[in-house]
This record gives sequence, structure tokens and C-alpha cells, in this order.
Amino acid sequence: MDARERLRAYLEQRREMGESEFVLDALSVDDVLRVLGDKHPAPSARAGSDARPTPSVRDTAPPTSGNWREALSSIGAEAPAPKGTPRPSAPAVKTAPDDAPGVASTDASAPLPGTGLIVGSAMGDLPPGPLAHLATLDDVAAHIASCHGCTLYQTAKNHVPGEGNPTAGFVCVGEAPGQTEDELGRPFVGRAGELLTKILEAIAFKREDVFICNVLKHRPPGNRNPAPDEIKACSPYLMRQLELLRPRVILALGTFAAQTLLQTTTPIGKLRGQVHRFHGIPLIVTYHPAALLRNPAWKRPTWEDVQLARRIFDSAAQS
Ligand code: URA
Ligand code: URA
Repeated sequence: MDARERLRAYLEQRREMGESEFVLDALSVDDVLRVLGDKHPAPSARAGSDARPTPSVRDTAPPTSGNWREALSSIGAEAPAPKGTPRPSAPAVKTAPDDAPGVASTDASAPLPGTGLIVGSAMGDLPPGPLAHLATLDDVAAHIASCHGCTLYQTAKNHVPGEGNPTAGFVCVGEAPGQTEDELGRPFVGRAGELLTKILEAIAFKREDVFICNVLKHRPPGNRNPAPDEIKACSPYLMRQLELLRPRVILALGTFAAQTLLQTTTPIGKLRGQVHRFHGIPLIVTYHPAALLRNPAWKRPTWEDVQLARRIFDSAAQS
């Protein structure tokens, strides 16, 4: 597939996922590439072919065709950053300890998708959930403290509702408390948390600037994976937190956060690198920091994901 076809496949995929605010609907692929600064516009004869309906992406293209970053960079096009948006400062990776060497040893020159074409201004409301009566984040936390919705409270030392700046507009969602989190009652304060803090610093956020929470609010014994019934029991808390927080951007860390929020079983490798929506809120998926500690090859894509999240945050801040 050439870049044009991949871009088309990507746009089709987004449309299928309900991205109705896409301005691109009214444009041909050639138009889009012109907007994006394609240096090699196709012959105009080709434009006619854009008028016909495009078959479903699922019938015609592998799922990996959704990587529009590659599509754009391969044609040398990068949508411009919104005016006045400073690039996030250079990554703080050099300060990382040896066992947590940061996100990626790269500068900010990696091709980034622009955000203007993706992010609409409207933020859809979350439907009122079963916890709509909990009026504040503290109320949610208090409810979690006495929750017996699954068995995890029996083995956990503390509940870990989440913490941070409730008005920041940037929310990180992880999987579940680990041992250190369970002991301290705070999210992401162990090794994975140290790395998350560095990742956030790399996009010019202090940890306390953002809100950090997890899908599960009690630790699964031995750090085992969350069980489906635990996710089911606990996710109303996350939904209510997000409803109260109304963030501008959600960063889903790892498979469980991504799949829970997006209600999908698609593997994380296919979810990352794109802008999803959670009830209208732009949602970026990236690898879990704990996974990065195990697999350094994922640092580079994570760096790209969080830069994308930051760009979207900045662009949403202006609208
Ligand atoms: N891993 C998570 O997913 N969440 C935490 O809070 C800590 C580690
Ligand atoms: N604790 C961690 O550090 N990472 C996980 O993914 C879960 C628990």
C-alpha cells in the first residue's frame, strides 16, 4: 500500500469508529494530502476515483493500515502544530536511573501527527453511570474505601483511588496497584511509577500536574492480572472519576486500561499510535511503564505516543 492508500484506509477506519466530526469527509484524499503539504500531488485524474464509495477497511486492509503517522511521514507531510503551541521541552530521559532509562533517547524531531484534523472541539458527555450520586472525587474515594464489589479488598492493605490535580485536564489510567501502591495507598509510586513520572516530565508535566489512577482500585494479590469480574466491579469508579474530571486528554497505560476504556479486545500494539475517543474525550493508548521496564524496544513508540498526547492536550487547551 502506498501512503495515499494507507491514509485512505486510516480515514475509513476512523469513520467506521464513529469519528463523525472528521472534516475530511468532505475532502478527497488528494485534497487532504494537499492540506497536509504533500509535495507530490497525484495527477488530477486520480481525484475522480475518490468519489466512489470505499469498501470497508476490514475487507481490504490489514489492521496495521491504521498507522497514519507512518503514512504521513512517508510522504514527508506533517500537519502543522497549532500556532503558538510550544513544543514540549526535550525529554528528561538523561536523568533516568539505569534500571529505568527513560522513554527514549531521542529528540523531539520524530514525525508527529498534527492534531488539528483529529480533535474536534465537542466533548461528549459520559452517560450517567450507577455512581452518578457521588458528587466529588473524594466521595468516589470514600466509596472505594468500603467497597466489597469483588474480593480484592480482602487481601489489599489499602485502597488506591487515584491522586493528582483534578482540574489538570490530563488523566493517566493504569492497570492496578502493585505492592508499593498497596502499601502507600497511592497510584504509581513504585518502579513503574518512577518511570511514569519521568515520562510525564518528558512532556513537560509534573506528576502532580496531572491526575493518575487505575482501572482497579485494590491490588490483585501477587500482581496478577485483573480478572474480568474485578474489572467489571471496579470500572464504574473509573467511569465516575472520568466523568467528574472531564479531562481534555486521557492517556491509557497498558492493555487493561486501553481495552477497558475502549471496550475492545484489540491488542495494544494496534491501539497505540492513534487518537481514540472515550465519550468524546481524546484518548491515547501507550505501553504500560512496567512493560517498558521489561522491554526497552517499546520506549520509542511510547515517546511518540506521549508526545501525541501532549500535542492534543495543547491543542484542546486552545479551543
Ligand atoms: N502499575 C499500575 O498499573 N498502576 C499502579 O498504580 C502501579 C503500577
Ligand atoms: N505493579 C507494577 O509495577 N506494574 C504492573 O503492571 C502491575 C503492578
